Amino acid sequence: MLLEVRNLSKVYKKGSRQVKANSNITFSIDQGDVLGILGPNGAGKTTLIKQIATLLIPDQGDILYRGVSLVKKPEIIRGRFSFLLEGMQNVYHYLTGEANVLYFAYLNHVPFSAAKSRCEELLKKLNLYNVKDQYVFTYSAGMKKKLAIATCLINDPEVVFLDEPLSGLDVIAAAELTESIKSWVSDKGKTVIVASHRMDFVERVTNRVLWLKEGTVVLEGKTEDLKNLSKEEEYILYLRNSAEAREKLCKLNLQFEVLSDVTLKTTLCLGQKELFYSVFSDPDFEVLNLEKKSPDFEAIFRRLYGEHSEGN
Ligand SMILES: Nc1ncnc2c1ncn2[C@@H]1O[C@H](COP(=O)(O)OP(=O)(O)OP(=O)(O)O)[C@@H](O)[C@H]1O
Ligand SMILES: [Mg+2]
Repeated sequence: MLLEVRNLSKVYKKGSRQVKANSNITFSIDQGDVLGILGPNGAGKTTLIKQIATLLIPDQGDILYRGVSLVKKPEIIRGRFSFLLEGMQNVYHYLTGEANVLYFAYLNHVPFSAAKSRCEELLKKLNLYNVKDQYVFTYSAGMKKKLAIATCLINDPEVVFLDEPLSGLDVIAAAELTESIKSWVSDKGKTVIVASHRMDFVERVTNRVLWLKEGTVVLEGKTEDLKNLSKEEEYILYLRNSAEAREKLCKLNLQFEVLSDVTLKTTLCLGQKELFYSVFSDPDFEVLNLEKKSPDFEAIFRRLYGEHSEGN
């Protein structure tokens, strides 16, 4: 076991106000895992990452890295873990891009020649090589984010924590980062912990997920298994467009889309047996096609947090 998080709890205190940021969080990950930490705003994702980063001391609980307590020995992770933290500057504005990366290499005792070639490789991969000599205050938000990712990777850490790595990245940069993480994990056996609101990214890059809600774990498991939680299977039904079909869909309270003069589209859950029966047995419905809807992480997210978002 690479990391074991045991009963972590944290209450932020501001004067008389107390915010329970997380409570009794327990999970573990192995080397080579890519864990996605999910949850709505304020669920406690960043707090959890900061606790594992040893930047926040937990009120209760511990984190074990290869069996060693990080509460007792926080120094053991220095140089082994890298963090891209949310809302932090992460990079120095009055240094050039290249100088930033080399400075982080120096802090992590990477020999200069190795740092130089690795820096070049990273900056090229992240499309920052042509701006490497510019001061970082001239960079756009996405460029700063990519540079921060380069500073995280320069010392070839064992575990990388990425808090919202895609925010500010353009579509191509986001896709490239997704691929880089995947190859970095599969080629080098590295471990990644990533908090993100981008469900497509989480689905593509993680093999485990931890879903938080109001500071507690609501679901934890393999990404693959959780995809199957995508409620009862849903089917998309394409029906011949006719006045009768439209009228009956309305009567059955089934929402539909008019795709063309010929086709209507509606969705049915496998659990809705009676509706399936009504549609398939009624001569006013001519089924043109039936497609199984692929499991949808975003749908699971909405279901898990539905009440939460409505409450806010
Ligand atoms: N420094 C702080 N002082 C007081 N309360 C805080 C502090 N940081 C976070 N909180 C509170 O702790 C809870 C968890 O916050 P956290 O930043 O961990 O959430 P998050 O899941 O990362 O949210 P987001 O998706 O918005 O990044 C929230 O209620 C937040 O208001
Ligand atoms: Mg956060």
